[in-house]
Amino acid sequence: MPITDNSKHVDFSQAVLNWFETHGRKNLPWQLKPNPYRVWISEIMLQQTQVTTVIPYYENFMQNFPDIKQLALADEDKVLHHWTGLGYYARARNLHKTAKIIYHEHHGVLPSTLDELVELPGIGKSTAGAIMALADDKYAVILDGNVKRVLCRYHCVKGWPGQSDTQKQLWQLAERHTPSSNCRSYTQAMMDLGATLCTRTKPSCSVCPLQQGCEAYLTQKTTEFPYKKIKKKLPVKTTQMLILHDKSGEKVLLEKRPPSGIWGGLWSFPEIQVNDSISGYLQKYGFVINAQTMPWNDIHHTFSHYHLNIKPQILWLAKEPILIMEKPDWHWYDLNSPTELGLAAPVKTLLKQLVNQS
Ligand code: ADE
Ligand code: SF4
Repeated sequence: MPITDNSKHVDFSQAVLNWFETHGRKNLPWQLKPNPYRVWISEIMLQQTQVTTVIPYYENFMQNFPDIKQLALADEDKVLHHWTGLGYYARARNLHKTAKIIYHEHHGVLPSTLDELVELPGIGKSTAGAIMALADDKYAVILDGNVKRVLCRYHCVKGWPGQSDTQKQLWQLAERHTPSSNCRSYTQAMMDLGATLCTRTKPSCSVCPLQQGCEAYLTQKTTEFPYKKIKKKLPVKTTQMLILHDKSGEKVLLEKRPPSGIWGGLWSFPEIQVNDSISGYLQKYGFVINAQTMPWNDIHHTFSHYHLNIKPQILWLAKEPILIMEKPDWHWYDLNSPTELGLAAPVKTLLKQLVNQS
């Protein structure tokens, strides 16, 4: 399994680079006028999201936050607003945190070494490598999901890539294959090869430049690699979301969630547990509603650790709320002229339904 002779390693990177010349992607928005800031933002967006989804978000984000300074000085709500729909909001909070650190402690310039980059919130070893290689064509090694898949197959690496000993082995292989020059093209090429040829299901081995050396292909075992994680069944949790309209029916109550945990820092409807009574909640804040509560169909949302079953309850206030009861983390969201806020995905869905109904 280990690569013993150097020529094979040169063949690998050379084959990848040759393929890139004709088949690589060269016009992605972050490849045009690349700089560390633009590449950093794109890499964070691309961590858990596909290129086609990312592109419009990326363009929009760049218009709103064209450089580190603009991002560092922006309101967190505005940053989260422009992330709404991309998911994994810790990425956006870390992005904002890191922009502030760079602005205040690094004179607004992204550090240029791997050691300094990995110190920043949200930037791991692979992302740091990608920033160095893609922005400045410096020597750096990456190991993202695409590269892991290619290497697992090429070398028939046993073990789930998330496991630490497998990970270590993959880093060693990634280092051996990375050429000392042309790192920008090689890095982009490996990402592209993984995304377009060596895909999760049905890799296009017949047109792959690595075919001749690929152990999985040569032994017809491409479907076996990469090894999968042994899956645990996710628990199901249930919650009620109270969609409380004001007296005019034009505004609904949103609450800002605590900074950590699910949907941290995002705005959501007030939640109560399934066994808690709605009237108890209303009494606590002095809300008086008219007519009956109207339940909507459940909404299902899956997180990495559990499924969430949301029961929306539609309510209308009979009287204006007593002002003393207003809390700073409350916002009466105007359905007709909404404020720009970061919204939890199911909340965005529910708000759309509300607007369509009215
Ligand atoms: N995935 C992560 N980074 C990428 C990039 N620069 N281009 C395409 N896909 C990617
Ligand atoms: Fe992936 Fe097939 Fe290429 Fe091997 S030959 S790297 S399995 S696409």
